[in-house]
Amino acid sequence: MMRASDLRRIFEEALRQYLLAVQTPLELLKPMVYSLNSGGKRLRPLMLLTILEAIDPRLIDKGLATAIALEFIHTYSLIHDDLPAMDNDDLRRGQPTSHVKFNEATAILAGDALLTDAFGLIAQDRQLDPALKTQLIADLVYAAGSTGMVAGQLDDVSHQDQSVSIDHLKQTHLMKTGYLFIFAVKAGGRIGKINEKAIDLLSQFGHHFGTAYQIHNDLKDILAIESDPDSLLKSDEANHKSTYPSLLGVQESKDQLKHELHLAASCIQALNHQTGLNFSGLEQFLGAISIE
Ligand code: IPE
Ligand code: IPE
Ligand code: MG
Ligand code: MG
Repeated sequence: MMRASDLRRIFEEALRQYLLAVQTPLELLKPMVYSLNSGGKRLRPLMLLTILEAIDPRLIDKGLATAIALEFIHTYSLIHDDLPAMDNDDLRRGQPTSHVKFNEATAILAGDALLTDAFGLIAQDRQLDPALKTQLIADLVYAAGSTGMVAGQLDDVSHQDQSVSIDHLKQTHLMKTGYLFIFAVKAGGRIGKINEKAIDLLSQFGHHFGTAYQIHNDLKDILAIESDPDSLLKSDEANHKSTYPSLLGVQESKDQLKHELHLAASCIQALNHQTGLNFSGLEQFLGAISIE
């Protein structure tokens, strides 16, 4: 099995090559590259490539365009998420957000370009057959558009000053964060052409991982406030948002996080059993968001 750092290197090199060849005018390319290369963990593309590697390492190349497209959509979602009209954040990954570094119009347009170009990346990929491309594009539209992430984001910002039920919060989280993870793993299964039962197990893994990921994200925010009260100013708390910890308390949120991680781990076991392959490479992603 390849190390995670090998897959990361392959991904970074493919992204670098793409950005070198692209025709985008420099004024627009600059803010796109600034946010693409500002220290993201690349979780979604690496998940996709980890699955392809488990199916057959020779398939990794076939997933690169889709992996880059996924990181484009994720990056656009963060640029727009940080805007003054949304979460109004000045920092992301410890660096000035796009609208602070450039200006608001540039940040909006860099996001628009990343979103649109993502679909071009898949459409123009010579390594995927037309039926598979169409399927991937349709799945990505479902995950990222008005039925998925964008709807989840609207729900998130429009309940800023209200408390919502835990079921409502779960659905919002699933749409704003879970759906892109579900796309990442399903895309791996589709490009690798594994059977529908296994693709369904991958979806379930993505569902549990996505839920766990957002609980972890909200908990991190609360734990940061406890150790550094100044961080309250820019937190979910300051935006009066409902989060797992605000609705359930820190301990119950940690328990739910553990439960989701446990369910995700069971999906890996079931996948191995179903396919006769070894998907244990996915376990590193669970390790990265476990909390004591
Ligand atoms: C952060 O996502 C935003 C959420 C969807 C919860 P990541 O934690 O994957 O962001 P980066 O790209 O690694 O910074
Ligand atoms: C970001 O969620 C989700 C998307 C951009 C789709 P949050 O607003 O909770 O994440 P952070 O805290 O800004 O990373
Ligand atoms: Mg947000
Ligand atoms: Mg935010």
